[in-house]
Amino acid sequence: MSAAPLAPRAADLADIPQLAALRADFLAELGYAFDPALCRRETAAFLRLRLGQAIHCLVAEAQGEVIACAFLLVQPRLYHPLAARGMAGEVLNMYTKPAHRGQGHAARLMEAVIAAARQLGLDALHLKTTRAGRALYGHLGFAEDGGPNAPMTLKL
Ligand SMILES: CC(C)(COP(=O)(O)OP(=O)(O)OC[C@H]1O[C@@H](n2cnc3c(N)ncnc32)[C@H](O)[C@@H]1OP(=O)(O)O)[C@@H](O)C(=O)NCCC(=O)NCCS
Repeated sequence: MSAAPLAPRAADLADIPQLAALRADFLAELGYAFDPALCRRETAAFLRLRLGQAIHCLVAEAQGEVIACAFLLVQPRLYHPLAARGMAGEVLNMYTKPAHRGQGHAARLMEAVIAAARQLGLDALHLKTTRAGRALYGHLGFAEDGGPNAPMTLKL
């Protein structure tokens, strides 16, 4: 019989090498072409400066290995009537290692991210989703904004 999964926990500095590897795995699975060593280096440098401050990360662990992660980037926002506290979160890099999928890790991580966002006093959580993430997020209450303006991107 396999042991019950551990509850998600906040990542710390010691997790950064594994988180950097999961970032590269995530981007590769989404189909981006990039240098994985550069990705790992840049991700690690970014996290060393900001983990637990501007960016939070929840991880699921099994046998001492990080098998799934989700990041929460905290962003100050200009006043908006639907977001009066002026702080929003963006969920990034929700990723479960292929061998561990379908066991509820992502769902538990997202619940932990939502709890952390409430504790931080954020107004809302935003994210972009793949097809695989759509059911997960929908069940947790995420919905298309439906407001008068929709996100667009200009690549610089
Ligand atoms: C999407 C992903 C994070 C799900 O991880 P997981 O740990 O297997 O997810 P869970 O076991 O918690 O399942 C959560 C829900 O998502 C659904 N789901 C999981 N993988 C799915 C897939 N490939 N296609 C459709 N739905 C999927 C599950 O059925 C479950 O739905 P339920 O709530 O109706 O049971 C994982 O497949 C992954 O890392 N994919 C690559 C990266 C990605 O697409 N990230 C998400 C969006 S940015």
